[in-house]
Amino acid sequence: MSDDADADIDVHDCTRCPALCDNRSRIVNGVGPVDADLCLVGEGPGENEDEQGEPFVGRSGEVLDDALRDRGLSRRDIRIVNCVRCRPPDNRDPTTAELENCRDHLAAELDAVDPAVVVALGKVPAEHLLGRSVAVTKEAGTLHDARVAGAPRRVLVCVHPAATLYDPSQREPFGAALDEAVALVGDDGGDGQSRLGEF
Ligand code: URA
Repeated sequence: MSDDADADIDVHDCTRCPALCDNRSRIVNGVGPVDADLCLVGEGPGENEDEQGEPFVGRSGEVLDDALRDRGLSRRDIRIVNCVRCRPPDNRDPTTAELENCRDHLAAELDAVDPAVVVALGKVPAEHLLGRSVAVTKEAGTLHDARVAGAPRRVLVCVHPAATLYDPSQREPFGAALDEAVALVGDDGGDGQSRLGEF
């Protein structure tokens, strides 16, 4: 798979969201191979991500890393990005305007990576990608055809890893949705070539 260095999809300077610009230490771009079959989309950077400049490096990142490891994967095998790239103050949800301001960064990323499956981690990315309200507890593990800035995408709804920390009952649907995502991209399509051949 290609290395991050191949990607020219990073945002280096963006001032579209005054409240986020005032609050951020840095822009947190996506990480992982630019030709990954699986792209995980989170909500936005928290404190740890803002400090370290990488998505999902705090406690939810640990949950994610553990879940990937349980499936024989690591973050070197997948792309991870957020709906917004700058930390919202006080860890509030990004506003609709902020999500829209960042939409074309996300769309450019998905266009470049062109993953087979996009996994929406939690309510904010699920609603942003599907363009409707989503009850994640009901829809986790379901796959949807969506359009992101005009391009067709297969979006799988998944519980946010943080939800498993405060509600252990969410571990099962979180894991089941990840299993589903891995099965979808691991399907060899009948040509004997698994799309996760490197794993
Ligand atoms: N939660 C998110 O949605 N994204 C991160 O990068 C970290 C936590």
